[in-house]
Parts: sequence; structure tokens; C-alpha cells
Amino acid sequence: MRSQSRRHNTGGYTGDGKIPANGKTFMADNWIHALAVSEFPENGVSECVIDGKIIAIFRTDDGFHAMDGICPHQGGSLGKGSLHGCVARCPWHGWEYDVRDGQHQSIPAVQVPIYQVRVSGDSLEVNLS
Ligand code: FES
Repeated sequence: MRSQSRRHNTGGYTGDGKIPANGKTFMADNWIHALAVSEFPENGVSECVIDGKIIAIFRTDDGFHAMDGICPHQGGSLGKGSLHGCVARCPWHGWEYDVRDGQHQSIPAVQVPIYQVRVSGDSLEVNLS
């Protein structure tokens, strides 16, 4: 049985670089300042609000990662949890997610939406498209 994804609605974008034929516009360049890189916490975990959406941001050995900041279990704040390698742990009940793809570590059907991140000077930017 194929697991059900909880990824966010991409407006029909399939990730293959093509605009969907359904008439929706895919915004490929919607980079928004999230945090200052120089002020990123030592523990590698932070959060911000962009367009009213809480975004959790993590710094691992391979760079920054952003994902939806609300735990799908009961709404814990993932940006106030802890980071163990590439795994974020929710502070409320300990559910764990791979910050690189949002995948829950033991429930295949649970996946938190992730977002692209880039560094521009001292600005950490997130693409919510
Ligand atoms: S709310 Fe995140 S583990 Fe329960």
C-alpha cells in the first residue's frame, strides 16, 4: 500500500520544471527573509513567521533546512524542539522528523511540508512556493 503524503499543496507543480496545465501559476521565485544567519541559535533550531505561517528552521552539518513549524500530532512547535543530526524532535511528545524531507521517523504516512532555503549574505531566506 502506498503511503499517503502530507506535503503542502504546490498548486499542481510536479517538480519537473514545467508549469502545470491546470492554469495555476507556479511562483518559482518567492524568497522571503526569515532570519539573520549571524543570529542563528547555537543549538541549530529556530523558528519564524512568514505570511502568517510558522516555519521551523534547522542548521545541520549539510546546511539549513526549513519545514512547517507545527507538529501534525497535536500542534507542538517544531522550532522549539531539539535537533539530533538531521532529525528534529517535537518538544511535546517526541515525534521525530527528518529535516531534509519532513518524513516522520516511524510513521510512513506522516510527513511535514518542507521548503527551500538559501543564504544571501547574512539573510536566511525561505521559498514558500
Ligand atoms: S505535538 Fe508533536 S509529538 Fe505531539
